[in-house]
Amino acid sequence: MKQPDEPCAPAGEAPDRRRPVRSFVLRQGRLTVAQERAFVDLWPRYGVDWVPGTLLDLAALFGNERAVVLEIGFGNGDSLAAMAAAEPLRNWLGVEVHAPGVGHLLLETERRGLTNLRVVRHDAVELLAGGLPPASLARVQLFFPDPWPKQRHHKRRILTPAFLDLLARALVPGGVFHAATDWEPYATQMLEVLEAQGSPFVNTAGPDRFAPRPATRPLTRFEQRGERLGHQVRDLVWRRR
Ligand SMILES: C[S@@+](CC[C@H](N)C(=O)[O-])C[C@H]1O[C@@H](n2cnc3c(N)ncnc32)[C@H](O)[C@@H]1O
Repeated sequence: MKQPDEPCAPAGEAPDRRRPVRSFVLRQGRLTVAQERAFVDLWPRYGVDWVPGTLLDLAALFGNERAVVLEIGFGNGDSLAAMAAAEPLRNWLGVEVHAPGVGHLLLETERRGLTNLRVVRHDAVELLAGGLPPASLARVQLFFPDPWPKQRHHKRRILTPAFLDLLARALVPGGVFHAATDWEPYATQMLEVLEAQGSPFVNTAGPDRFAPRPATRPLTRFEQRGERLGHQVRDLVWRRR
């Protein structure tokens, strides 16, 4: 997992101006033998081969019309799998770019015998922009997004007004966006973006306030690291107007 102070591009590499600024840098993570097997044996069952330019049919994907929760950047996916197991009457869709994390979640999905979880390996911003029908999600989760702490990397932070518009389009009216971070300046920026004039979201905790940690959110791997470093964890729970 990328650490907060990791550089966003290899030293000396000139930025490619034609490419959009992304919220991640793909690292060549090594797959374990089990994860490699998971991509062969389990991907056909739990993986989603989303083709950019097409819309996902979520009811067909899950085989039912139940409410769908999207988790963006699930890391190794342990907390997502735990939530999917705890709420079997919802459908859970995870999107992550880091192959070892995806492989880990495929294995965990099989180990737990989950039938309500599917995985997309792609840039979540592109999936939100072009792959999900309007008003198709009941909830979106963004737990411990890369904080990009250096000023020159702030442009890589995923939570921007444009990202919020994409979320608002994909969520049903009344749907929930739940974010958590252990990076205080990012938490403050999240509040600012979410409360900007014309924001499509209402803060469930009241203006300018963080939410109490929902009991349903398991401790994530990155959160444990933040706690070891003594970071304060902030939850933000917002409702789409
Ligand atoms: C700091 S880690 C947190 C992982 C996990 N949520 C946790 O709390 O342990 C952020 C994760 O988001 C993923 N990520 C960042 N930008 C993404 C994007 N645009 N689409 C999909 N995944 C993304 C990264 O690959 C990384 O695994």
